[in-house]
Amino acid sequence: HNVVARMKNVEIIELGRYRIKPWYFSPYPEELCLMDCIYLCEFCLKYCKSRVCLGRHLIKCTLKHPPGNEIYRKDSISFFEIDGRKNKVYAQNLCLLAKLFLDHKVLDFDTEPFLFYVMTEFDSRGFHIVGYFSKEKISVEDYNLACLLTLPPYQRKGYGKLLIEFSYELSKYEGKTGTPEKPLSDLGLLSYRSFWAQAILEQLVNQKAGADGERPSITINDISERTSIKRDDVIYTLKRLNLVTYCKGQHIVCINQNTIDQHRAAMEKRKISIDSKCLQWSPKD
Ligand code: COA
Ligand code: NA
Repeated sequence: HNVVARMKNVEIIELGRYRIKPWYFSPYPEELCLMDCIYLCEFCLKYCKSRVCLGRHLIKCTLKHPPGNEIYRKDSISFFEIDGRKNKVYAQNLCLLAKLFLDHKVLDFDTEPFLFYVMTEFDSRGFHIVGYFSKEKISVEDYNLACLLTLPPYQRKGYGKLLIEFSYELSKYEGKTGTPEKPLSDLGLLSYRSFWAQAILEQLVNQKAGADGERPSITINDISERTSIKRDDVIYTLKRLNLVTYCKGQHIVCINQNTIDQHRAAMEKRKISIDSKCLQWSPKD
């Protein structure tokens, strides 16, 4: 029965130095789910039923980072691009792991139409997975992100917004605007709202005043072009922040000092952001 089959089925997983309690069902093989713990290789994400089995795997497994190309590195943060066709097993293992924390998506084992962008943190033992997002190779709906995950030990430290920022950085390089696939989870929506607000306010606050001392007006299209955030999401955000008024048949964007101050304070707290100079990537078509 469907309901039973979708109940949470994995007690705990071990991934590198972390033991993590899953949130939701994920279709790992049934005999593994009977075990107290599923042991994952933190680099290739292969799953094992015991620590002994993982130990045997680790002797053979030489990976110290995700497969694919490292396309970004700044300080200890790297991004690897993985093709769901060329690295099918890895991509499927990543989806299985992600499903443990995603309730609102059905697991798609057909990884071929997707690219996976895995973010890692480097130390002397290797490049440890922090989170990832997936992206359709071709999207007619302008989706620039399909699934998004920060692993629980790394959550609420700004990595989710870093992943989102990276997805828009890729869209900038493609010369496109993009939007995440819907529906978003509650936590996904919170993260996007926060990212969109900051990215858009950055544009408003940093509008250079002209020679006459007047700030030139900025249009919704300007904001969308400069941030790669799709027009609808710009409008949604401006409305949510009360920054747009409709006057004589026109939308006018206006910002007050209080909003500017709040924004500056929020940006002070944001410790990490993407440095586009560190991205070595060109879109394939
Ligand atoms: N409760 C309240 N607010 C939360 C929150 C929580 N549990 N988790 C994140 N937020 C808020 C943060 O406060 C932050 O807002 P702020 O910058 O204005 O303070 C914003 O969301 C982003 O936080 P950040 O630390 O960058 O995100 P994260 O690394 O924790 O990752 C997700 C966010 C959504 C990727 C992560 O929660 C996750 O992987 N969830 C499970 C999978 C999922 O739902 N993915 C989204 C699918 S659409
Ligand atoms: Na780790």
